[in-house]
Amino acid sequence: MTRAEPVPCRPADISRFEIVRRDGRARLGRFHTTHGVVSTPALLPVINPNIRTIPPREMWDDFGVEMLITNSYIIRGKDTLREQALDQGVHSLLDFPGAVMTDSGTFQSYVYGEVEVDPEEIVRFQRDIGVDVATMLDVFGRPDMDFEESAAAVRETAARAERSLEAAGETMLNGPIQGGLFPELRAESATSMAAHAFAVHPIGGIVPLMEQRRYRELARIITSCRHLIPPQRPVHLFGCGHPHLFPLAIALGVDFFDSAAYALFARDGRLIVPWGTLKLEDIEEWPVASRYLCEHTPAEVRAMEHPQREALLARFNLEVTLAELARAREAVRRGRIWELVERKAAEHPALGEALAYLLDTDSEMPAEFRTWLDAASNPLRRAGIL
Ligand code: GUN
Repeated sequence: MTRAEPVPCRPADISRFEIVRRDGRARLGRFHTTHGVVSTPALLPVINPNIRTIPPREMWDDFGVEMLITNSYIIRGKDTLREQALDQGVHSLLDFPGAVMTDSGTFQSYVYGEVEVDPEEIVRFQRDIGVDVATMLDVFGRPDMDFEESAAAVRETAARAERSLEAAGETMLNGPIQGGLFPELRAESATSMAAHAFAVHPIGGIVPLMEQRRYRELARIITSCRHLIPPQRPVHLFGCGHPHLFPLAIALGVDFFDSAAYALFARDGRLIVPWGTLKLEDIEEWPVASRYLCEHTPAEVRAMEHPQREALLARFNLEVTLAELARAREAVRRGRIWELVERKAAEHPALGEALAYLLDTDSEMPAEFRTWLDAASNPLRRAGIL
């Protein structure tokens, strides 16, 4: 199926985030870019420009993906990709007509240690290849860092903010919030980043927590900074792609997610299902209906050559992830997002712990956050949870 090309927003509307529906602090929005208006909450699939497990054009045509995220550090590091991106732009390089966000190399520094990037140069590069939303080079605050190290990550990130915005020019820029596990540093980071003209605020440094299913700590991080971000700026959870977290995050006011999980899990023979993950080797029958899997049995897929199996499972994983996000948006439309959060909490103990933290009036959650959440019509009570 071929889908029509996106309609650019009006030039005056670039970066406008229009909120069209609310349920408590959850919102449905429209994020305006020159490569179309993106409906939120949105999942941005991660594209590794060297691999492309699912071609970006297929994501646009068959999956209805309106925006994706790729990595400018990887593009810049490979001659063929860099030259093509500089000559023809990142949309042409990827063959994707919708909106493109890029990351800056920060995550590579977390995974591989120091990376050689100049904070201003990597932003200029993203501008020069024509991305819709670039990301400044923030300093990744790992959860194992002590207070001093986490504070240094927050302050260095803030110190780079203004120079990065100047380097970005007219290109929209992500202003990530760091601070590790320390609520007061998360609050400081949100306050200082929100004071600059960023288009989007991602909450960063949380991938290790999500990998270890430390969802209570994730909820604690969100509740320490979310209320400090101006309402008209979208908020992104950097690296959150497991759909069972979507309802909770959306209920706390998150608008963007990005995911490499669909491809990484497929490579390991794992399936993303609404309630968790399953290993292909353990399955006798498909537990979820899928247009990609319906023509094969699990045994047939197990017997496939590895690349063919990976391609099929990646499509299934993306299909489920997008459907779960649609389900969460539907819940917002009906005023039932907290009901969905509660259902998810019953499906996974780590989500149960996160919800218990949110409901515990004795928890160390900042009073300002609770006031902020309650001010939006007390959704917990309306959903019958309190
Ligand atoms: N991807 C996952 N986490 C992060 C983060 O903290 N910063 C950036 N720039 N990218 C990320």
